[in-house]
Amino acid sequence: MSEIQKNAPLISQLLATWIKGENSESYTLANYANAAAILFQNMTAVNWAGFYLYHAETNTLALGPFLGKPATALIAPDKGVVGNAFTAQKTIVVPDVHAFSGHIVCDVDSNAEIVIPITTANGQKIGVLDIDSTQLNRFSKQEQADLEHFVQTLIQYIEVS
Ligand code: SME
Repeated sequence: MSEIQKNAPLISQLLATWIKGENSESYTLANYANAAAILFQNMTAVNWAGFYLYHAETNTLALGPFLGKPATALIAPDKGVVGNAFTAQKTIVVPDVHAFSGHIVCDVDSNAEIVIPITTANGQKIGVLDIDSTQLNRFSKQEQADLEHFVQTLIQYIEVS
């Protein structure tokens, strides 16, 4: 059982408490920030959790709300795990970041990473959820599925311009 599954009642409760304002512009930033905090606080061996948000006018992914060490501010859509997952529109699970060609180091303690694209139901690309772990092979298939479900829940509370 993945940690997200194990903590599902708590995570549902936290989402219900802290993620507000369906499709409300005023809550979007707070919802990203609280989502990062919920994941960071409820997953073991996670040293970074947050968002990169796509800006079409500059064709870059810009650092959004996160918890962890300061990180690279701008990532091009063809760079890093973040850019590759965004461009492919597919989750990338990296069991060992040292073996991923083009991995962008933000925290030297990171050993594994998962990046999940955030896309609206009508196909608009919003950005990605990025989670780093100090533990090699940290993200299981089940946890990938649970985190993708988490993103699907969150997207309902994100205002898309
Ligand atoms: N490792 C990412 C960069 C972002 S930090 O992990 C927070 C990448 O390769 O895209």
